[in-house]
Amino acid sequence: MNLSLASAHANLALVKYWGKSDEDLILPRSPSLSLTLDALSTTCVAEGSTTGEDAVFIDGEKTESERDLNYLRFLKAELGLESGVIVRSVNHFPQAAGLASSASSCAAMAGALVGLSGKNLSLPAISRLARHGSGSACRSVYEGFAAWVEGDDQTSVAQPLESPLLEDISVVICLVSREFKSIPSRLGMRMAQSSPLYEDFIYQCHRDFKEACTALRLGDLSTLGDITERNTLAMNRVNQTARPPLIYPREKTEMICELAKQLREEGIACWYTNDAGANAFLITQEQFAPLIAQRVHSRFDVETIIAGPGPGLEVRHA
Ligand code: DP6
Repeated sequence: MNLSLASAHANLALVKYWGKSDEDLILPRSPSLSLTLDALSTTCVAEGSTTGEDAVFIDGEKTESERDLNYLRFLKAELGLESGVIVRSVNHFPQAAGLASSASSCAAMAGALVGLSGKNLSLPAISRLARHGSGSACRSVYEGFAAWVEGDDQTSVAQPLESPLLEDISVVICLVSREFKSIPSRLGMRMAQSSPLYEDFIYQCHRDFKEACTALRLGDLSTLGDITERNTLAMNRVNQTARPPLIYPREKTEMICELAKQLREEGIACWYTNDAGANAFLITQEQFAPLIAQRVHSRFDVETIIAGPGPGLEVRHA
């Protein structure tokens, strides 16, 4: 039987995507920048079904989620797959870590379906397909750093960015909350638009993106870290001032943000970011990651995972 297997890794946004210009096509209001992480991945197997039905299984459970099934139908239509397809997706994330897996899952599913179709698509073309599952997924197609730009349905894709920083950048993932986020990013970024600060934030994302790309090219971690931290805090302010307010960080998340500042004062490279959840991410150099992880654990009793730059999408036929 025709079978295809793909794997993709999660990515951490360094300049955030937090708003759409088109909700159906998933086009972003501003460009974003990310680092693919080696520690978190999804494997996805796609095979033709004998009964002709479509089905999606996530971590062994059949899902009835309209979002997942619509994405499968979208991929089939784009790739000209007419018979039924069964998709089995497994997340290799620490159990109940409260980390979003939509980026790696949607990128892996796009890869598996492309493999099943036998079509030879370019990475930007697969990035476009992944974007239709979840915006941030279009960046998980690439290893290391990726930039996703606005545009139309054909041109809004991610591209890889080279940087000397890939050699020793590290991320300490701090598992502040093991619960899944209460407000998913899809809804959160819609709510954020009610903030009076929203348009300024979108303007800032454009500026931060340009400056971050320059810092990447120059291998300037300190500037990149400063940009990421200020971009994150700007996103949090927009969320806090939305009507109704939207608050993702918890008390421990805020304390970890403070710790990043203290560590910098001690001469340790460390910058803070968060996504649409309570977990904190500390960006650093490989040499400092174990020390930072140890500090977070001993001060806040928070478990950590150390991640480095991850590989891009891999597709295999079986
Ligand atoms: C805060 O990609 O999950 O992580 O496109 O609606 O599926 P949808 O949203 P999603 O949003 C990610 C938001 C973020 C920032 C980022 O990854 O850029």
